[in-house]
Amino acid sequence: MEFKFTWIIVQLLVAFQVSSTFGFEHVIPRGLNNKPTRVIGGVTVIDTLLVRAAQAFARENSEAYLYNHVMRTWLFGALIISHNTTLQHSVDLEVHAIGSILHDLGLVLNATWISHDLRFEVDSSNRATQFVEETAKHHGTSSAWDANRLQLLYDAILLSSEPKFSLYKQATVKVLVEGVLLDLGKPDYGVTAAEYQGVEAAFPPLNFITGVNHTLVQLCVQKPSTTYDSWQQAFGDAYVPGYTPVGRFVDIFNPKTPSS
Ligand SMILES: *[C@@H]1O[C@H](CO)[C@@H](O)[C@H](O)[C@H]1NC(C)=O
Ligand SMILES: *[C@@H]1O[C@H](CO)[C@@H](O)[C@H](O)[C@H]1NC(C)=O
Ligand SMILES: *[C@@H]1O[C@H](CO)[C@@H](O)[C@H](O)[C@H]1NC(C)=O
Repeated sequence: MEFKFTWIIVQLLVAFQVSSTFGFEHVIPRGLNNKPTRVIGGVTVIDTLLVRAAQAFARENSEAYLYNHVMRTWLFGALIISHNTTLQHSVDLEVHAIGSILHDLGLVLNATWISHDLRFEVDSSNRATQFVEETAKHHGTSSAWDANRLQLLYDAILLSSEPKFSLYKQATVKVLVEGVLLDLGKPDYGVTAAEYQGVEAAFPPLNFITGVNHTLVQLCVQKPSTTYDSWQQAFGDAYVPGYTPVGRFVDIFNPKTPSS
């Protein structure tokens, strides 16, 4: 009897150990990543119809600087994964690829899918998830996209501009933002200088700095209320005449602010 009780305690301890690993490390189903590959910018990446369709969609709809940024984000992420066995067992490569390629759809400010009231990351997530559902249906591969994978895609894109959250989420979510961070920084996470340069040679930054600046200023002009209390607000504060973030969360605590 006593032995049995001890055994249950041991089992519970083991269960908690295991669940913490299985929760956020998110071991992927066996065979999920067994897909064809191809080489882009010197990087071996997953090659599926849906990934190709996502790439074509991004190219068709984005300015050149933005398209090159999302491609570098994907390839840097793929390099990070190639240097890390743990990630090879925990990242859903197709979700990572499509999420990276479509993560800035909400910055295509004249597109039909841009809302007037949602943060750009939400517009990106909504459009990307819709794109995958529609395209997979068209390809007859809807069964590969259960609610869990669609949710992973949605969250990976939603949090792609907020590393303070995404670095602590599932490996797929985390590597996507690490690809973004590498593109804003320098080689890291095991990626070599030569690999980094290979990606930049294939997808050069072009007018990245002025392009991002212009797009974010435009975002603050076009849908200001979605930018208050986000990192995007700095662009409105600095460059948009008449940009008044009245109704910001902080103003609730300031009695001098006129209520709107
Ligand atoms: C590999 O990735 C895992 C999960 O993100 C991380 O904990 C680990 O530190 C990485 N290993 C190396 C050598 O960078
Ligand atoms: C958005 O602007 C680009 C040029 O920057 C143009 O090629 C594209 O057709 C426009 N899209 C829409 C939906 O107006
Ligand atoms: C960003 O845009 C503002 C407003 O157009 C401009 O004054 C500023 O020089 C731009 N900065 C860069 C780095 O492009």
